[in-house]
Amino acid sequence: MTQTEEPKQPDAFTCSGLVRQQWQLALHLLFQMPVSGMKLDSVCFASAISTCSKSGRWKDVLRLVEAMLQMGISDFSIARYQHCSQAGSTLDCFKHSVFLMLLQKLISDPSPVTCIDTHAGPSLYDLGGPAQRGILQLIAPPCPPSLGGDVLHAYIHAAMAGTAGTAGTLADPLVGKYQGSPLLALQWLRPQDQAIFYEMSREAFLQLKENVQQSFATATATVQQGNSYWHLAHQQSESRSLILMDPPYDPYETYMAWNLFLLQHFYEKWPQSCVLLWFPYLDDDQVAGLYQRLRLLQLDDVLVAEFGVQETESLETSGFNLDANPRPLWLRTEVQLRELLRSLEFRISQGCEKPVMNSVFWLSGRKKMQCAGKSYRAEK
Ligand SMILES: C[S@@+](CC[C@H](N)C(=O)[O-])C[C@H]1O[C@@H](n2cnc3c(N)ncnc32)[C@H](O)[C@@H]1O
Repeated sequence: MTQTEEPKQPDAFTCSGLVRQQWQLALHLLFQMPVSGMKLDSVCFASAISTCSKSGRWKDVLRLVEAMLQMGISDFSIARYQHCSQAGSTLDCFKHSVFLMLLQKLISDPSPVTCIDTHAGPSLYDLGGPAQRGILQLIAPPCPPSLGGDVLHAYIHAAMAGTAGTAGTLADPLVGKYQGSPLLALQWLRPQDQAIFYEMSREAFLQLKENVQQSFATATATVQQGNSYWHLAHQQSESRSLILMDPPYDPYETYMAWNLFLLQHFYEKWPQSCVLLWFPYLDDDQVAGLYQRLRLLQLDDVLVAEFGVQETESLETSGFNLDANPRPLWLRTEVQLRELLRSLEFRISQGCEKPVMNSVFWLSGRKKMQCAGKSYRAEK
């Protein structure tokens, strides 16, 4: 550049070239490490996964996860996550009522069900501030009968068993607290069913084990400490299963890479499973990227539900992606889900000054061709 030349502003072409170089460089460096005698670990992979995700190299991301599995890299860097800060929030009301709705559908058939919780948590929580406009709003009188009311009622009773206004069926130490997904499931599972709960943190695992022992569960329940992704990616099953994937969302790209890898694995190797993947809705672009990646997985019919309080900074909006088998489970699922969320929206909005929204829509597959509906924000 001569002295009189203006410095060039990077244009879209230059930027996309830089991004391309970054993912290429990340992959190159990663695979050069063993050649130079350096040990590959989860931190190196997490960094390559993040770079490839940001460049939209989704298939490379899945290949990186596969490489981790093949190389036996099972450790997983997790953020210290305390679910108690969210216990009973609008987020939990959404998450747990949808989970219960699907569980009820599965146990309406007498054959055994396996319920898997990939990120179980301790499952028993004191209620904090966010419960005010969540579960506490739901149990506040009056409780008008409304659309979707049966599932919502069942959820309120199960989540807050023993608390004022609800009829409990739990052992004393569990009464009056908020029940997370494992204890919720155990209230519904029958003797012929089984539950498998994975929890990575030792502290949460020990609490969960104790809480499960104190529950009046009739199903066989196994509590396992460890990285659920690692365990499940090595298994296949023909059982009728409901799998709840409720991961933390930080670091987002690493968790999402594993979530999507496992989703594809379940689709291929667990043909009788219904998978429920929870995701945070923090950013429109991030969610649009997730939907794009889900479409690329070609999982057939994928139903998405979004629910949340608009115009909030906190994590009050999130979604579920449902990939369901066996097929009969789909009968009326979409309609029931809409009814449930409409009812939840009505009840939550009575105690909330901000708009509450929900949407249910098919993301891909044959059903998408037949039905209307779309994301309330991401696809506008
Ligand atoms: C959102 S909380 C679970 C809440 C629970 N599903 C509920 O609804 O009551 C996420 C939990 O996943 C655990 N966790 C994080 N990564 C994990 C992994 N790879 N395998 C198993 N557990 C994990 C965290 O320690 C945390 O307790």
